[in-house]
Amino acid sequence: MKKTVTTLQQQKLEGRKISMLTCYDYTTACLMEAAGVDTVLIGDSLGMTMLGYDDTLPVTMEDMIHHTRAVSRGLKNTFLIADMPFLSYQTSIYDAVMNAGRLMKEGHAQAVKLEGGAKVCEQIEAITKADIPVVAHLGLTPQSVNAFGGFKVQGKNEAQAKQILEDALAVEKAGAFMVVLECIPEKLATLITKRLTIPTIGIGAGAGCDGQVLVYQDMLGMFEGIKPKFVKQFAQIGKEMKDAFSAYDKAVKGGSYPAKEHSFGIDDEVIEAIDL
Ligand code: KIV
Ligand code: NA
Repeated sequence: MKKTVTTLQQQKLEGRKISMLTCYDYTTACLMEAAGVDTVLIGDSLGMTMLGYDDTLPVTMEDMIHHTRAVSRGLKNTFLIADMPFLSYQTSIYDAVMNAGRLMKEGHAQAVKLEGGAKVCEQIEAITKADIPVVAHLGLTPQSVNAFGGFKVQGKNEAQAKQILEDALAVEKAGAFMVVLECIPEKLATLITKRLTIPTIGIGAGAGCDGQVLVYQDMLGMFEGIKPKFVKQFAQIGKEMKDAFSAYDKAVKGGSYPAKEHSFGIDDEVIEAIDL
């Protein structure tokens, strides 16, 4: 069944959890579509996972459109949300609506996501008025990494927890149809989920949310080293890939690949005729 803003909100009402994964390319999109994932997010995390930056700040609108288009070609029923990158909506209402529109028009997204609460509510309202569905993002919002002084859990003290709850109520009022809660305590996320009529999607926010999202390279075990507490590795694809690359390297260098069955034939007379 084709996923829409309406079917996703229905899932919350009926208590059926929503699955979301990040996605950045056509091949992966086809696999996620076949797996029956509800929604994919073209996260600006692509700056880190696909482009190798240290954070998401350098990601451009062109980067986002390029990857969003590619993913859209692999989807049929899966709902496609594209992130608004740093400085594409903070600067003005006009910028916010124009750039959200570009993600829909050029990227073929079905909704856009932006970071922040009360301070971006005017943008959420204006984008929503342009009939572009908006997902909000609260808690550890990575575009604010410099203001936060690093990537750390948000909302542990009373002032912060109250702020996040108020922001959640504010983005819902402004018209957001869904909100991502990143790296906040489980009980706070559960409380917010109960207080909102729109679905909450957690990442590092516990089991009380209406749905979950993970960066696919994290859940596939493609990165060695960094492994945040909230990540569960559902496979060790990084090791599988490295082993396959190494087997290929050895086969080429050792001459076992390509074999006869991988090669094309030709009549001997043709070769004899040209080999003068
Ligand atoms: O960019 C991203 O991948 C995200 C998710 C982690 C929510 O914003
Ligand atoms: Na993001």
